[in-house]
Amino acid sequence: INNGLGLTPQMGWNSWNYYACDINETVIMNTALAMSKNGMAAAGYKYVNIDDCWALERASNGTVIPDPKAFPNGIKYVADYIHSLGLLIGIYTDAGLYTCQKRPGSYGFEEIDAITYAEWGIDYLKEDWCYSFLENPQERYQIMSNSLNATGRQIFFSLCDWGTDNPWTFGGAIANSWRTTPDIKDNWDSMMANLMAQASISSYSGVGGWNDPDMLEVGNGGMTNTEYISHFSLWSILNAPLIAGNNLIDIDQETLSILTATEVIAVNQDPLGVQGALVKSYNGGLQQIWAKPMADGSRAVVLFNTDTNPATITLNWADIWVAPVTQQLVVRDLWQQSNLGTFATTFVSEVIPPHGCVMLKLTPATN
Ligand code: DGJ
Repeated sequence: INNGLGLTPQMGWNSWNYYACDINETVIMNTALAMSKNGMAAAGYKYVNIDDCWALERASNGTVIPDPKAFPNGIKYVADYIHSLGLLIGIYTDAGLYTCQKRPGSYGFEEIDAITYAEWGIDYLKEDWCYSFLENPQERYQIMSNSLNATGRQIFFSLCDWGTDNPWTFGGAIANSWRTTPDIKDNWDSMMANLMAQASISSYSGVGGWNDPDMLEVGNGGMTNTEYISHFSLWSILNAPLIAGNNLIDIDQETLSILTATEVIAVNQDPLGVQGALVKSYNGGLQQIWAKPMADGSRAVVLFNTDTNPATITLNWADIWVAPVTQQLVVRDLWQQSNLGTFATTFVSEVIPPHGCVMLKLTPATN
């Protein structure tokens, strides 16, 4: 949607993956404070997003009321604090009668909710799809999109129908991103399922509106750091929203270094906005090459070993739209932040561990 937002994929944090319903203003504000200080804000993370369970009921005039136990000072208080840190705030609702956790949904209240969010200073809205049976997502989400637009406040709009109605076909006209899959879980198989669902829909994503394979699980403990590095590399090359879903108040150094890998994030935030594609598979998909063209004419590449055995992966220039294929390219490792050398035609990786990857940038050599 052309609302001036989402020119690159959104970056931030969301409460759901780690806290689920166990949220309150202290958790949200301390997370924002952590994000502002620990290097994440400097790396580009902006949005602090409250997910389900903040709302309790509706007043007789229809206005939504935050849960007073969790948010005793209201949402505007939290928004003002987050803004004072130089960050932005997101909130959550549902297109149906209730949210997935049975809190008030926005069905029939889109206009008044949009006005309320704008008054609170909300910068981002995620709209879920529970208890919305019989409704058509495109039509229902359009109502909220119009209502947000009518407030005059710039509010990033994130659709969450879990990909059930091919939202990539209509999302671009009404929203800045759309979920393409069921909920991610903090395990390898779930991450892989959400990844593979992106391969066929890469062309629908672009500047202003992004495919969303769901939030990050990096740091939540269900995968190894090797797997989290793959997860983060792949989400980056997919132009997926980089919405951290872990505990930022108590974060370890390794997790932080994954989430703030600047050269990896730069691939995600490249202004050209072309989603990475699965360009080559070896051994029935056990080894995969994902690639994306970058604004400066270079190529970003993830050499991904999904196997439980180590493997090397051969990258041929012909597979990543480089012509002539004999061109000299400088190959840079984006995790090591070091150049590996200048190669023509082909690059063969080192041995990549099980579930690991190598992430590269290939730039034409200047003679
Ligand atoms: C389903 C969504 O897909 C999740 O991301 C989360 O928002 C939950 N609902 C909250 O109930």
